[in-house]
Amino acid sequence: MAASNVIKQSNGPVPFSDRLLGGRALDLDVWSIYNALALPPDTVNLGQGYMNFPPPQWVKEAADEAIASTVGNHYSHPKGRIRLRKAISDYYSDQFTNLGRKLDPETEILVTSGANMGMYSVWGAFLDPGDEVILFEPYFDQYLASITFNAGTPVFVPLHPPAGHTASHGPSAASEWTISIPELKAAITPRTKMIIVNTPHNPVGKVFTRRELEQIADVAKEHNLLVMSDEVYDCLTFDGAEHVRIATLPGMWERTVTVGSAGKSFAATGWRIGWLIGPPTIIAPTLAVTTRTVFCTNSPLQEAAAAGLEGAPKRHYFETQRKEYEERLAVLMKVFDKLGMSYVIPQGSYFILLDISDVEWPEDYPFPATITGRGKDFMFCWFVAQEIGVSAIPVSEFYCKEHQHIGEKFARFAFCKDIATLEHAGERLQKLKQYLKPKAANGANGATH
Ligand SMILES: Cc1ncc(COP(=O)(O)O)c(C=O)c1O
Repeated sequence: MAASNVIKQSNGPVPFSDRLLGGRALDLDVWSIYNALALPPDTVNLGQGYMNFPPPQWVKEAADEAIASTVGNHYSHPKGRIRLRKAISDYYSDQFTNLGRKLDPETEILVTSGANMGMYSVWGAFLDPGDEVILFEPYFDQYLASITFNAGTPVFVPLHPPAGHTASHGPSAASEWTISIPELKAAITPRTKMIIVNTPHNPVGKVFTRRELEQIADVAKEHNLLVMSDEVYDCLTFDGAEHVRIATLPGMWERTVTVGSAGKSFAATGWRIGWLIGPPTIIAPTLAVTTRTVFCTNSPLQEAAAAGLEGAPKRHYFETQRKEYEERLAVLMKVFDKLGMSYVIPQGSYFILLDISDVEWPEDYPFPATITGRGKDFMFCWFVAQEIGVSAIPVSEFYCKEHQHIGEKFARFAFCKDIATLEHAGERLQKLKQYLKPKAANGANGATH
């Protein structure tokens, strides 16, 4: 045990496990640094990705009914309540056309306490000490600690912004962020166990193309790897972007687990309902882990999530929700256009990246100790929250140390907020103009859009 694994107390040291020393688990996470409590009280929160509007009425009513009933409040089957597993099978089977049959609610679906706990359990079920897991950067930060807690070793392969992207370039498309297949292949070792794919992607908003997924699938098949496909934003694609499930590509069902989240689908991130879809060879060992940790996921909200999936098609809920998110996105794009700043237009998810390279703050600005030594994006997010009253999340947090410079140019704004809130944030953000580097006389450093 390392000497740093102790909490000193007056009655002697209290040691804790080595596991906590890896995966940045003990570092102050971005969510805490930019937590509402750490920021001025009236900050408009476009940082953490939770909605400031309620779940749909019929879904809330189903939750109320379940709470009012007796069985709705008891332990569920560890696989998940049968109504929800059936609803997942009914809703998603058409999207797993490769199977040519319905998903089996008994062996191919597992309800979990949010997508996070489902993914954690897959790692618990499949990682042996030293097994390597490939993450495309920027990666959803929770992956890192969850992999190291389960004795795995994260290996990083960056997504590259378009070569011509600059702060004065104007908006660019998330589709232009690309992975290099040679870089992916170079990252494979005899210890590689799994590749994680996240599409639609947080925070870039990229929706991986069929071609890209086919190339990743070829690497997975060649090296006999598992794939975890985190598709929690599957219902949030814009402008006709096609969401392709890597599990549906030839030879991929057997080695892929697909991750979903009722929190993202039904504006209920705090309900902590997620699910895994995959072959029995992946679901059964994962069930063993979930059963021995939470035993089962909270019962009444599983009923509500089931009602959500059952009722969504006839209400055209996901189509309407998609349009609403497109309108929300348009508000922020207009704000950034008015400022003349570059940003990345997402194809999916509810995040937009702003290029902050041209923002300057006073050299002697009093930044707190929590962000000293972190990237420029950390300073930007702190400064903007304090001086302008809008919070965002620094993107370098989603990169390993060696690649942080790629993310440091960007701040992530969440647009899962109602239009009035986004407009209010937009008015405040116009104050950023006074902190932008002066544009060169020839316009070389000035956006013209
Ligand atoms: C890419 C990604 N995966 C998983 C999750 C976690 O989903 P859940 O809230 O269902 O655990 C999030 C939440 O922000 C996410 O962005």
